[in-house]
Amino acid sequence: MTKMIARALLSLLLAVGILISARAQQKAVNPEKAKMDIYITNLMSKMTLDEKIGQLNLPSIGFDITGPLVSVDVDKKIKNGMVGGVFNTFTPEAVRKLQDMAVKETRLKIPLLFGYDVIHGHKTIFPIPLALACTWDMNLVEQSARVAAQEASADGLCWTFSPMVDISRDPRWGRSAEGSGEDPWLGSQIARAMVKGYQGDDLSKPNTIMACVKHFALYGGAEAGRDYNTVDMSMVKMYNDYLPPYKAAFDAGAGSAMSSFNEINGVPATANKWLMTDLLRGQWGFKGMVCTDYTAVNELIEHGIGKDLKDVSRLALNAGIDMDMVGEGFILYARELVKEGKVTQKTIDDACRRILEAKYKLGLFDDPYRYINESRPAKEILTPANRKIAKEIAEQSMVLLKNDNQLLPLKPQGTIALIGPLADNQREMIGTWSGAGDWQRSITVRSGIRNLFGENPVLLTAKGCNLLTDRKYLAEISGDKSVDPRTDDEMIKEAVETAGKADVVVAVLGEPSGLSGEAASRSDIGLPGRQLDLLKALVATGKPVVLVLMNGRPLTLEWENEHVPAILEAWHPGTEAGDAVASILFGIRNPAGKLTMTFPRNVGQIPIYYNHKHTGRPYAGNPDDKYKSRYLDVSNDPLYPFGYGLSYTTFNYSDLKLDKSTMNMNGTLKVSVTLTNTGKVDGAEVAQLYIHDLVGSITRPVKELKGYQKVFLKAGESKTLTFALTSEDLAFYNEKLEHKAEPGMFIVFVGGSSDKGLEASFELTK
Ligand code: NOJ
Repeated sequence: MTKMIARALLSLLLAVGILISARAQQKAVNPEKAKMDIYITNLMSKMTLDEKIGQLNLPSIGFDITGPLVSVDVDKKIKNGMVGGVFNTFTPEAVRKLQDMAVKETRLKIPLLFGYDVIHGHKTIFPIPLALACTWDMNLVEQSARVAAQEASADGLCWTFSPMVDISRDPRWGRSAEGSGEDPWLGSQIARAMVKGYQGDDLSKPNTIMACVKHFALYGGAEAGRDYNTVDMSMVKMYNDYLPPYKAAFDAGAGSAMSSFNEINGVPATANKWLMTDLLRGQWGFKGMVCTDYTAVNELIEHGIGKDLKDVSRLALNAGIDMDMVGEGFILYARELVKEGKVTQKTIDDACRRILEAKYKLGLFDDPYRYINESRPAKEILTPANRKIAKEIAEQSMVLLKNDNQLLPLKPQGTIALIGPLADNQREMIGTWSGAGDWQRSITVRSGIRNLFGENPVLLTAKGCNLLTDRKYLAEISGDKSVDPRTDDEMIKEAVETAGKADVVVAVLGEPSGLSGEAASRSDIGLPGRQLDLLKALVATGKPVVLVLMNGRPLTLEWENEHVPAILEAWHPGTEAGDAVASILFGIRNPAGKLTMTFPRNVGQIPIYYNHKHTGRPYAGNPDDKYKSRYLDVSNDPLYPFGYGLSYTTFNYSDLKLDKSTMNMNGTLKVSVTLTNTGKVDGAEVAQLYIHDLVGSITRPVKELKGYQKVFLKAGESKTLTFALTSEDLAFYNEKLEHKAEPGMFIVFVGGSSDKGLEASFELTK
């Protein structure tokens, strides 16, 4: 009897086992993947070690370089099978020439990847990424990447080094311009939307391109905001505040990643096995390929982590890097490293396979010329439709910082003095990292106003001063023509005279594009050159002054905020700059952008961000409270907080309600609020929801963004908005790096900025 039962049990177990294994197999066998595996295994079986190593090489050939010129004899190397992809070459003609060499002149005819920094548009340039984020509109963010992919692929490219998803809390860092700002939650939404926009639902379509998530990782955490500088960060800070956008981009299916230049807690990212293998591939399950940043392998020597190029190439390969951008250490030393047993053959095989897989997914093995079609550029690049989207995005990205007595919108009448080095400047409109962008196609503010209204209002213009006092540097970053030979004093005098003849002054001031982006950190982030003197002189005329700012980072604007009645943050708005600024200035479009990076009062407050901690001695604003976490010479508050931005109308929040006062771990909390447009014009508002976890096993930020809705309301209209929160939204990485929500009390804030809002509380129970 017992035997029979045992036998029956055994067969039952066997049957269950077979069922489970069949299920597992069913899951494992994805026919597309199986087909790819067979194709690549077959191809790799024909490859020599040198040919495999050749695939790991990514030289630059063509236009832009962002470091030492290392890539030489690229044509010859392509023909010898020593190149897997190239970057900085575009146009179908130029790309065809190189692809021909790979598929016609190499033994195995493996096509090349063609990459480029398509960062905020290819030729139709959108606002800089920091501005794009200020739209808080994921549909527009995705559309910008979609248009960029369409244009880039029409120009022969199949791979972009974007999105840049580095969190930045330090506006001194010039590359703040290239990211989405300071918030991990919003940054994650944007990362996803960008990947979706570039890659679409099928990488092999001729109008989609592969995304490259960068700079992995924590590049924005550079000490003192100095580019390429050291990053030393606790694991909980990393996991909670800096890593989420990268993870979101990978989860959205990004095909590749780029290692960052910085070190992380003593080990440079490019040599960091924990980062590139344990975290990225192990914990996160990333299956795509990883390339380095420009000569990042070679720079490991300067970092002091390896003694020569061979040594650092070993470190990078063993860390999990697949492709070496420009440095050539892999093609020089990988063979020896394998022979000496310092790098395994499997490491090379895995790297090569991942690069070949990317090519396979892009459809390059089916057709190496998939992205090369000489008739596409004329039809698909800088089309009126693309420019229309660029204008829409530029309008939505602008943030109204101040508007006393409703000086804005302006009436199209009388005489306007349009002053400033950026008022009629095409060159600087397209911002940093707009490599393929043609600034000569961009629209200046002066042209934008003219396009709208012709000769009426009367426009008087004056340059006012040069963008920078360092003329040599200005010529270097903006070209000789940007330098006005007159002295700044002469130009300020002329501007004041011009202002005297007008009813209102519009001063368009800010940074040249080259003052943000890579290798463009600043220690003083005020208006550069003599621009503040110019502004002071204009304000002293007594005429009403509207300040339009164009810049690539938050600036310090204390004087401006105190003395100038209206301030519009326009960022570097892209190709359609002038049309978009004009449409906001004259109220054709009501501004709705909200900041995604805090504007400090002065540089001493940096790093400054809304989601900071309380400390044990939080300062409540009473100046007699000495032993508090505070400065003696400046308040703790920023000048303009995260989430801030005005409108030509006003919005009121009322009736904040939670559908329950306690929620358990599986529950959903419904948060509702009534939003009313209480002003006289129609407009959009970004209603933001923040939480605060009152007590945690590790301390929690004073506020964390967990939701938002961008809503358009007609004047006088009200709407009830409903948000849903689950325990997932309340979870964070604890000391053991477990992602969990902890029971206890939470506060919910809903409002139009991170510094104000209605509040309610609830308890999370087990
Ligand atoms: C260096 C920059 O850090 C990176 O963002 C860019 O993609 C590469 N150069 C290639 O141009």
